Amino acid sequence: MTGMSRALRFTVALVLGLGLLTWAASLIVSSTTRDWFMKDVRLRGQLAVNGARRALVAHWPDARAVQAILSEITRDERIMAAAACSAGLEQVAATVAYPDRFSCERIGVHVRPRSPRERWASWTSVDSLPGGQVHVSAIPIRDDGSAVGFVVLVQDMSYVGRREAKTQGFLVGAFAILAFSASVLTVLAARLSWRGWTRQMRDLLRGESPRPEFQPILRDVRDLVERLVAEREQEGQGGAWTPERLKQTLNRHLHGERIVVVANREPYIDELREGGEVVTLHPASGLVTALEPVMRACSGVWVAHGSGSADRQTADERGHVRVPPGEESYVVRRVWLSPEEERGYYYGFSNEGLWPLCHLAHTRPIFKSDDWRHYENVNRRFAETVCEEVDSDDPIVLVQDYHFALAPRLIRERLPRATILAFWHIPWPNSERLGICPWRTQLLDGLLGASIVGFHTQMHCNNFVDAVDRYLEARIDRELIGFVYQGRSTLLRAYPISIEWPDHWAESAPPAAECRKSVLADLGLGPEALLGVGVDRLDYTKGVEERFLAVERALELHPDLVGRFTFVQLAAPSRTLIDRYRELNERVEREAARINERFGKDGYRPIILKRVHHEPPAVFRYYRAADVCYVSSLHDGMNLVAKEFVSAREDERGVLVLSHFTGAARELTEALIVNPYDLDEAGEALAVALRMSEIEQRDRMRAMRRYLAEFNVYRWAGRMLGDAARLRRQDRLAIRLGIHAPTENGT
Ligand code: F6P
Repeated sequence: MTGMSRALRFTVALVLGLGLLTWAASLIVSSTTRDWFMKDVRLRGQLAVNGARRALVAHWPDARAVQAILSEITRDERIMAAAACSAGLEQVAATVAYPDRFSCERIGVHVRPRSPRERWASWTSVDSLPGGQVHVSAIPIRDDGSAVGFVVLVQDMSYVGRREAKTQGFLVGAFAILAFSASVLTVLAARLSWRGWTRQMRDLLRGESPRPEFQPILRDVRDLVERLVAEREQEGQGGAWTPERLKQTLNRHLHGERIVVVANREPYIDELREGGEVVTLHPASGLVTALEPVMRACSGVWVAHGSGSADRQTADERGHVRVPPGEESYVVRRVWLSPEEERGYYYGFSNEGLWPLCHLAHTRPIFKSDDWRHYENVNRRFAETVCEEVDSDDPIVLVQDYHFALAPRLIRERLPRATILAFWHIPWPNSERLGICPWRTQLLDGLLGASIVGFHTQMHCNNFVDAVDRYLEARIDRELIGFVYQGRSTLLRAYPISIEWPDHWAESAPPAAECRKSVLADLGLGPEALLGVGVDRLDYTKGVEERFLAVERALELHPDLVGRFTFVQLAAPSRTLIDRYRELNERVEREAARINERFGKDGYRPIILKRVHHEPPAVFRYYRAADVCYVSSLHDGMNLVAKEFVSAREDERGVLVLSHFTGAARELTEALIVNPYDLDEAGEALAVALRMSEIEQRDRMRAMRRYLAEFNVYRWAGRMLGDAARLRRQDRLAIRLGIHAPTENGT
């Protein structure tokens, strides 16, 4: 027998032996892991009920209160349904998806003592429902030693099967790799001399191109390692929120379903320049700053108004364009609006009506029925476009901002099973103020078409609850924080929005010293200059006039700053077709000129107003160059400029002076928080900021950076999508069990 055929026979025997071993091992592993999972599920149920025991006893047998506690228990993603049964085996309360077949009477037989000497006992079992296996457990509720009843939990077991299959997959994969490696090694051993083989190994270890025989092994090993790493990351709960983690959350909870975003502003605007050149601009918009990185991570479709002069030219015939340019990780679907539609829906109802209604900034809202008609029509057109873009009958749709209050209801009518998240990026007014709007009921009705309505702060959630209470016939569930309206339920949540971390613009910006040098040179300032910066769309809510007045006050209170302190304002023109904005442009210009006139001399001007759009790389250069950034909004849902300034300051220098009336002031507490109307306070804060020691600057900046690293926009999106996933599971379970979806019959 030749060496080669001996090697082949040995290989066949080896492969068979390993196959047998793998089969036996997979049986043992399967039964052991199933035991572990069962223990895990039992313990999870026990812990959930123990945690709620006190509350259950306190409220027993108040059906409404007990129902609320059960709903709280079923917030755990694997607990699908729960019921509370009295000692007399009557049902006290149950969550909506609770299957009838697990009646108190039926389960009680196993839990109830059979003789006076016995005690109530816990009981568990595995049962099958149309959608897969479930774990049913009954846990007695004791008050002072005697049982008042018991709680039945129905837990999802489908993941056990999935994990078993995965484990077996790994074992078989490992077997295949082992067998293959062994075969190749045996054959190679027969063919190669020891020297030749060791030379191959040396090449391999050095990373030099391996011989073809080794390439499949390496590929398999690499695949296996990658799968293991991905698994571990998916299972891991903690750690920072990253695009990767957001993607995994989507895959885990929502099976990677594609997301459809509806927002008026598009993330990339194509503009035609003289000579026919097309340039792509990044709009000055907090919404875009926040959502764009989320879409890059999740992919999907962003439905937006195509507002750029070259937008039609760069999109295909359906209005589709892949973005970001050069990266192309998601799609923008552009919706074309006529000038009348844009005038009525965007300039009119959205920005002359809703914008001043929601912001306490002393501008009178204007509501016209013509504008309202356009608003309704454009909302309908966007809802129809969403339906064209979805790839299932239960898609996830993120409806953004005040331009689309009616869209959630209109989408719901067309896609009853959709999971719709409506996020309102600006403040929500108190109900008295909302009463100004003749179409307040329609706005509320439209938003309650969503599965979840979100705001930045709890205060705006509270205002929304009051508004629903006052203007709609809806049931308010203050415990679960949500509403039941026209037979459907909607949750209400505060999700404070944030920025990507690390910010890709900050990462690509030059170091602080370089930025400072170039910005000071651009502004014609010397190296010793003290520099303040403001970055905004030119909007009356941003308090730009008050900001200039605060600079003036700082110069009055601290004359040593005159000649040294310069404040540069980057102001992107915005909504200039509206009179109030045109007027603001003139007022801001006048105010800057007056202050410059008063304090300027020998070329020194305390205020430099740049009324032009700046692209993010330029904005980040200014952030990095500044000694202080002043965000003086009179009212602002969140304000992401404040967060961007912090993200830009990798050097841990610079001071943020922040208006108390921004959502951001609740989070960035290490900023100097001021009332922008109080010019003494704001002027003093600017002076304090300019004199702050490097150590204090570092401590404050470091704390804010640590906060933003953790509370970044991936977390914002992850929390919303996590809540959406929970709702979807409940709905799907209800459908599986043949019950109407909880969102359809009212809970
Ligand atoms: O959050 C409010 C918001 O939607 C921001 O995205 C942006 O700052 C502004 O309103 C909208 O600006 P524009 O009208 O230019 O889209």
